[in-house]
Amino acid sequence: MARITAGVATSHVPLLGVAVDQGKTGDAYFKPIFDGYEWTKRWEAEQKPDVIVLVYNDHASAFDMKIIPTFAIGCGERYKPADEGWGPRPVPEVIGHPDLAWHIAQSLILDDFDMTIINEMDVDHGLTVPLSMMFGTPAAWPVKIIPIAVNVVTYPVPSGNRCWLLGEAIRRAVQSFPEDLNVQVWGTGGMSHQLQGPRAGLINAEWDNSFLDGMIGESDALRNIPHIEYLRETGSEGIEMVMWLIMRGALGRKTRCLHRHYHVPCSNTAIGHLVLEPAE
Ligand code: DHB
Ligand code: FE
Repeated sequence: MARITAGVATSHVPLLGVAVDQGKTGDAYFKPIFDGYEWTKRWEAEQKPDVIVLVYNDHASAFDMKIIPTFAIGCGERYKPADEGWGPRPVPEVIGHPDLAWHIAQSLILDDFDMTIINEMDVDHGLTVPLSMMFGTPAAWPVKIIPIAVNVVTYPVPSGNRCWLLGEAIRRAVQSFPEDLNVQVWGTGGMSHQLQGPRAGLINAEWDNSFLDGMIGESDALRNIPHIEYLRETGSEGIEMVMWLIMRGALGRKTRCLHRHYHVPCSNTAIGHLVLEPAE
């Protein structure tokens, strides 16, 4: 049977994609950020996951005000890097796993989650930057990807609790797929940041670190954080962190931390990164 072996969380700051694409990861500004991913790069090379269920958000690249799916699952064969205004990133195409994706879609929908099914879309920095952080610059990504796109851009966005429950349902879906696959779930976005308005540049390191603490162990307190707390404490874009709770929900009752990294500054935000495994 397929099994979820680990969860990875990371910010998806677009500037880091630029640093990778322009060969600047060793520059003084970027080095402390990228150094925190060296452990994970080695670990991923050993783990060799078959599939990543990659929870991310689109930033008005594939979707816009015409269509706003709350939760969408990519069931396609492949996804191209999106043109976000300065040409697509020079990274490999993302290869899907349609059989597992359709199985997860069916399982989730019969489990009362009304997913939007996407067969064609381009994927933006929300998905490609985490791949670059974990795998560097290979000629082809070494793993198949099932994108789960979450609306965290246009209000109303889903609650943290709903995200956690979706993660639990993803766990049931993966565990009922008959093929023997090593599956990771990634949650991306965050940490505290606000990109516009009078509070632009807001970073709340204390809150971010207590969120990282809450992802580890058996507490499920994070699922009950209300939207207004994200907004007040972490700025208007900090709400991206509800996507981490989908990954956390997918790991079961208790987690163990294998690796943790936090660094300020990283563009307008903090870089936050966790590698977790199910602890029972
Ligand atoms: C930044 C962070 C994001 O999560 C994003 O989607 C865009 C920009 C930033 O800090 O620059
Ligand atoms: Fe973002």
